[in-house]
Amino acid sequence: MSSISAPRGVRDILPDESWKWEHVLDVTARTAKDFGYREIHLPVFEHTELFSRGVGETTDVVEKEMYTFEDRAGRSLTLRPELSASMVRSYLENRMDKLHQPVKLWSAGPMFRYERPQKGRYRQFWQIDFEAMGSQDPYVDVETIALSLEIFKRLGLSRLEVVVNSVGCPVCRPVHREALQDFLRPRLNDLCETCQTRFDRNPLRILDCKNPACREITDGAPDTISCLCDECSSHFSEVRKGLDTIGAAVSIDKRLVRGLDYYTKTAYEVLSGDLGAQNAVCGGGRYDNLAESIGGPHTPGVGFAAGVERIVLTMEQQGCSFGRQPLLDAFVVCSEEGIRDEAFKLLYELRSAGIAADIDYSGRSFKAQFKFAGGSGASFACVVGPEEVSSGSVTVKDLQSGEQRQVARGDVASAIMTSGHKNG
Ligand code: HAM
Repeated sequence: MSSISAPRGVRDILPDESWKWEHVLDVTARTAKDFGYREIHLPVFEHTELFSRGVGETTDVVEKEMYTFEDRAGRSLTLRPELSASMVRSYLENRMDKLHQPVKLWSAGPMFRYERPQKGRYRQFWQIDFEAMGSQDPYVDVETIALSLEIFKRLGLSRLEVVVNSVGCPVCRPVHREALQDFLRPRLNDLCETCQTRFDRNPLRILDCKNPACREITDGAPDTISCLCDECSSHFSEVRKGLDTIGAAVSIDKRLVRGLDYYTKTAYEVLSGDLGAQNAVCGGGRYDNLAESIGGPHTPGVGFAAGVERIVLTMEQQGCSFGRQPLLDAFVVCSEEGIRDEAFKLLYELRSAGIAADIDYSGRSFKAQFKFAGGSGASFACVVGPEEVSSGSVTVKDLQSGEQRQVARGDVASAIMTSGHKNG
C-alpha cells in the first residue's frame, strides 16, 4: 500500500518553524491590543452564499478557488477563503451595531483557496486579519494601514512598499467602468483570454492583469482616481493627509484594484521585494457595501489581512529575529533503572515549578542520556543516582560550562530559576 502524503498545496508547520509562527502571532496580539482591537474566533466554514454574495460572484476566489461541499443535510458550505465576510456576518448576527463604533476586531487562522501552489502561495494558509466596522472616517483607514506597518516594524521587517489607491463607490464606479470599456474596446481582441472574459463582467480587474500585452494596452487607460465622485475624492484626500500626518511612506498605485469585489474607496497592499512573484504580504481596504450585499443594513468597514507564511518567509529572507527558540531548561538523567521513580518525581516537581524538563523514554545508557540532554538544547542535566537518592540531593550540571554541583533535592527548581540560564 502506498503511504499517504498531505494534499497538494498544504504544508505541515513543523516544530522547527512553528516557534517562529508563535513569535509572529505574539507580536500581532500585542500590537492589536495597543491599537484597541479585540480578538474574535470565527468558524472555519460558513454558508457558501456568504462568500458568493459577500466576496462577489465574478471574483477568482468565488469562481474558481473555493472549497465547497454539501453537508449531510444537503446544505452548501464553504471553507473560508478569507475573513472579512465572516467578520461582517458576525458583526450583524451579534448586533455589534449596538456597541461603541467602530467595532475593532482581529482574528488569525487558516484560510482555504484552490490556487496553483507556488512559493508563498498555498491552498491552506494562515492570515492575521483586522477589521474596523461601523465608521466611514478616513482616519480609520489610516489606522489600519498604520497598524499593519507597526506589526511589520515590530517584527523587524524592512524594505516594504506600501501602495494605496481609491477604487470609488457605486456612484463613481459605473462612470469609470464605461470610460475604461470605451478605452479598451478597440483593442479587445488583443487582451489575454481572461481579460476578454472580464471585459463585460469585471473590467476593473483588467487594470491589474500581469500579462505584458495587457499591461501595454492598459497603459494610459482611465484610472479610478480620475473618475472619483466628490465624496470618494475628498475621502481619499483625507486618507492621504492622515498618512502624511503619521509619516507613513506610501505611494499611489493607480492600477491597484484588488481581487475581491467588496472594496469601495481605499484599497492598499504592502509588498516585499524579497518574496518573488507572490509579493503581497498584506492586502486590505474599505468595504462599505459588504454588509448590505449579505443582507444587512448599511455598515461601513475597513481592514486588512496579512499572510503568516509570507511574513515568516520575508523575515527569514531578511534575517529578522524570531526571539529565542523555546528549549528545555533541564533534562533529568537517571543512572539506574531501579531509581527511575525517583527521577520521575524530580521531573514532575520541576515541571510543576515551571521548569521545562524532560526525561529519556528509550532506555538509553547513562552516557547516552547525557549526550541526548546536550543535543536537546537543555541548559542543565539533573542527575539522579543512588548516591544522590541516599543524600537527598541532585547533581546539577550546567551543560554549557560543564560545571556541576550538588543541590539539595528541594532546591533544584529554585537553583535553575535563579541561574540566569532558564530558557523558557
Ligand atoms: P487578500 O489580498 O486576498 O485579501 O489576502 C490577504 C493576504 O493573504 C495576501 O496579501 C497574502 O499575504 C495572503 N494570501 C492570500 N492568498 C494566499 C495564498 N494562497 N497563500 C498564501 N498566502 C496568501 C483578503 O483576504 C481580504 N479579506 C483582506 C481584507 C481584510 N480586506 C479588508 N479586510
